[in-house]
Amino acid sequence: MSLQKLQAPKGTLDTLPVDSGKWQAIERLAREIAASFNFKEIRTPVFEHSELFHRGVGETSDMVKKETYDFKDRGDRSLTLRPEGTAGVVRAMIEHGMLNDQGARAKVFYIGPNFRYERPQKGRYHIHHQFGVEAFGVAEPEQDVECMLLQLAFYRAVGLKDLSLRINSLGDRESKQRYRDALVAYLRPRWNDLGNDSRNRLSDNPLRILDSKEQRDINVVATAPSARDSLSPRSLAHIERVEMLLERAGAAFEIDNHLVRGFDYYTDTLWEVTASGLGSQSAVGGGGRYDNLVEQLGGRPTPGVGFGSGLERLLLALEAQQVTLPDDAKPLIWIAYHGDTAKAEALSLARELRDTGLRVDLDVSGRGMKAQFKMADREGASVVVTLGEDEIAKQVVQVKTLATGDQKTVGRAELRASLPSVA
Ligand code: HAM
Repeated sequence: MSLQKLQAPKGTLDTLPVDSGKWQAIERLAREIAASFNFKEIRTPVFEHSELFHRGVGETSDMVKKETYDFKDRGDRSLTLRPEGTAGVVRAMIEHGMLNDQGARAKVFYIGPNFRYERPQKGRYHIHHQFGVEAFGVAEPEQDVECMLLQLAFYRAVGLKDLSLRINSLGDRESKQRYRDALVAYLRPRWNDLGNDSRNRLSDNPLRILDSKEQRDINVVATAPSARDSLSPRSLAHIERVEMLLERAGAAFEIDNHLVRGFDYYTDTLWEVTASGLGSQSAVGGGGRYDNLVEQLGGRPTPGVGFGSGLERLLLALEAQQVTLPDDAKPLIWIAYHGDTAKAEALSLARELRDTGLRVDLDVSGRGMKAQFKMADREGASVVVTLGEDEIAKQVVQVKTLATGDQKTVGRAELRASLPSVA
């Protein structure tokens, strides 16, 4: 009987050592950009009580209806692997009293995995990672724009090109309801022209019909009323100010009257950034304002706005655009040795150099000199430091720069000082 080969579950990815440097680079840049906007990191659990997502993300959203990973723990509690970051962050902010004071402001960011049972395809996985930010306590459009500019600064830092920022507003609660009614009034007589999914959505989530990918739905919504016509004067002023501020900041954007996003919590500004090279899953990140969510989850009424940016998609887009990320790894110093005495000495030297902050490796299995050099090359070392009995006696080492082939004899006492210049 042959054992079945074990494989990673469908819709999941392994990040192998050859690729982990890219992840480290984008995570480092995300942290740097977030810090430059004075956002501080928050880490929340990867699972939460299921109720959080029902109340936060929305009962009628596709996500809660069909895409969450729900399970019962051994104490019979209903838990859900987080499908997104915002709801958990809001829960934590409330639980730790971070929004209790009148006028409390807080700006947080996170990097971590999310779990969605969506049909896997290129750019869409059962586990994906997001860099996201959430800003609480500021209702002004300036904060929306700060978040968008942070997101764009992140893409600029990683070298992503061919971006397009689309924005829309569904307005406050009343505007949103008005728009929903206008849309239903428009769609109902066209019921026969809609696809099956959209017919079902007409009663519980008509706004989602706007971003259906089915051609017959696209034809119908092409002439649907625009959300802008349903906005209250306050919501209209808000989105117009967002547009003015984006223009002032020199950020190119398009107004997309049909942009809706998958969560019920959004109010007023919504946005999405797409990049070339991603095929149908082209959104690298999206966000919006959610002024009622904190209150809905039991906190004191506090406005909020933020975005989430998918890191797998970002890496795919960078690859398609042939952008190379900066390699965060320090140059590698390889130590090669002849003979057993030198091997023990090589280990001591490695320790000494590592203690000074260098990245150092060596072959501890005792291969011949030629093989050691081959390994150094394969591992991408920039310098090989060689020692044998002769060198030990004279208190020197040979230092070879692999890129140029230059080799010189260096006194042990001078070795450390000589390395950064050759590395
Ligand atoms: P979202 O648009 O659902 O928003 O996800 C943000 C980004 O995560 C997407 O644009 C995409 O790049 C990536 N993403 C989503 N699902 C997948 C998947 N199955 N596979 C790969 N990548 C995926 C949110 O999650 C909101 N919480 C964003 C937000 C924060 N709004 C306000 N604050």
